[in-house]
Amino acid sequence: MIDFSLAVTHHLVVFALLAVLVAELALVRYGMDAAAVDAVGRIDLGYGALAAIALAVGLARAAYAAKGWDFYSHNLFFWLKLGVFVLIGVLSVPPTMKFIQWRRAQHVPTDAQIKSVRTYFWVELALFAVLPVCAAAMARGYGYYA
Ligand code: HEM
Repeated sequence: MIDFSLAVTHHLVVFALLAVLVAELALVRYGMDAAAVDAVGRIDLGYGALAAIALAVGLARAAYAAKGWDFYSHNLFFWLKLGVFVLIGVLSVPPTMKFIQWRRAQHVPTDAQIKSVRTYFWVELALFAVLPVCAAAMARGYGYYA
């Protein structure tokens, strides 16, 4: 039951995370106004919270679900997945800093600033696509080393 509950939670959280990232990309567009800046700033807080939950649930799956920590801790795809996930988290910091600054200063961003934030989002999305590949591989024991 623990395995099942963690698997369901894991899927719901990672889909929600992807949805929020896509929503942010849709909101940060050329010509965005102060209301959009405010909206994306608020949504971004949810992104951070979901990422933390995804990490906690993922680690709980690795430690307490059916296969056990030994299975994952000796798997290259598990560590690659974790590394890519952390990298996405690191790449999400500059956009978050921008949103905080823009909201505080009630600043409508320039085209150059919007372009820069959108680039971060696109790189995050591209890296996001690597995660299910690693997940499917590790779930099947590919990349296991003794
Ligand atoms: C947004 C990020 C993530 C995505 C998109 C994602 C995606 C997935 C998917 C699609 C599966 C099912 C694989 C399958 O059964 O074929 C899975 C399983 C799993 N994920 Fe994640 N995951 C994410 C984050 C994490 C994190 C951060 C961790 C751990 C630190 C983690 C640990 C696991 C574990 C342990 C499984 C179980 C694999 C198995 O059945 O043996 N995931 N993930």
